[in-house]
Amino acid sequence: MTVQAVKGTRDILPDEARRWQRVEEMARRQFRRYGFREIRTPIFESTELFARGIGEATDIVSKEMYTFTDRGERSLTLRPENTAPVVRAAIEHHLFQRVDCERLYYIGPMFRYERPQKGRMRQFSQIGVEAFGSDAPALDAEVMEMSMVFLEGLGISAATLAVNSVGCKECRGVYREKLREALAGRVGELCVDCQRRYRENPLRILDCKVGCRRLLAHAPTLLDTLDAPCREHFEQVRGTLDLLQVPYQLDPHLVRGLDYYMRTTFEVLGASLGAQDALLGGGRYDGLVEELGGPAVPGFGFACGLDRLVLSLPEPSGPSREVPDVFVAALGDAAWERALLLVRDLRRRDLWVEWEPARGKALKSQARKADRLGARHTLFLGDEELRRGFWTLKTMEGGSQREIPSADLEGLVKELVG
Ligand code: HAM
Repeated sequence: MTVQAVKGTRDILPDEARRWQRVEEMARRQFRRYGFREIRTPIFESTELFARGIGEATDIVSKEMYTFTDRGERSLTLRPENTAPVVRAAIEHHLFQRVDCERLYYIGPMFRYERPQKGRMRQFSQIGVEAFGSDAPALDAEVMEMSMVFLEGLGISAATLAVNSVGCKECRGVYREKLREALAGRVGELCVDCQRRYRENPLRILDCKVGCRRLLAHAPTLLDTLDAPCREHFEQVRGTLDLLQVPYQLDPHLVRGLDYYMRTTFEVLGASLGAQDALLGGGRYDGLVEELGGPAVPGFGFACGLDRLVLSLPEPSGPSREVPDVFVAALGDAAWERALLLVRDLRRRDLWVEWEPARGKALKSQARKADRLGARHTLFLGDEELRRGFWTLKTMEGGSQREIPSADLEGLVKELVG
């Protein structure tokens, strides 16, 4: 029996990997303009980091983490998200003491034990950004604008920016009580998870995936409950989005699945993913750095699900796969040795070169291989060519055939890239 990929994981084969690279390159290019620099943190961390950072009562921490004990009896967890790890790293390496406006981005795999479906995996990849050091509302708007520019750069234009404010701890304390009041007498109608949420953190009911939210259709929203400073902050965020001409929708029910958020939260919804339609999500998390033992540095960020994003990309207009620039075919021992060197020299000129490493293969079989690979050109080198000092260059498109002097490497390279 063959061994297969584990449920909820996926192989990204070369043709799809090209699309991933395109997304990653776009992210690096766009984020750089806004001053973000890359950080790479470990795939696993102490379990405690996530319990403290994300919140014990969240779905992620209570039932989705890949947690294990290593041989040294440490409780470790494969990172389910990367904001807490980035904050940990920034504290550990005193990044906040050097510049208090550090801007960081990351690209890499995350792990959540969720029910797999289209666009939802147990190992998935995120591209995320974290901007530290300012609680100014314009920072929120600037980073949201960047997320939209990033998607537009990839040709994703039918995406909707949804924004909300979840206020501060005080606002949420008041709101929790309002929710409990609104649900009093109906707790029995909630799912088992939400009955627990009702006791521990009723805000999480707004995030219920099986529909308990409907019981709150007429309940007051968090937005109605904001205190004056949070209300003012949110108004300025919205005002700045307007100034930047970034369209958005207000979604008073947007609470997000992690506890570290305060004030602005947002998601960008794609057009074509059905239930799994959040291409990216994030918000403000002032207080998290302190919670994890660092200084009082505010933060704002988001993470984008790469698996979903790649599914949403428009079909590429070019060829669906990449092909070699040239296949070098040789007949006879002496020609084979010349071919070996030519292959090396062409690769040093940055060309994608294929050949047949086994000596003595029939020309026919080499031509078949060139064909299978879809090489744009084939270079033949046989006895006749060796004696007269030229290569025979065949161009697949159109099937034309030319002779090129073997001393003229430059001329050859020109022909191949031209
Ligand atoms: P999140 O909303 O949990 O936020 O995840 C962000 C994005 O990751 C989602 O919008 C989605 O595109 C993708 N994603 C999440 N779970 C899965 C999954 N199982 N399969 C495929 N894609 C998935 C965070 O992780 C926060 N750390 C974002 C953040 C950064 N907030 C502030 N800074």
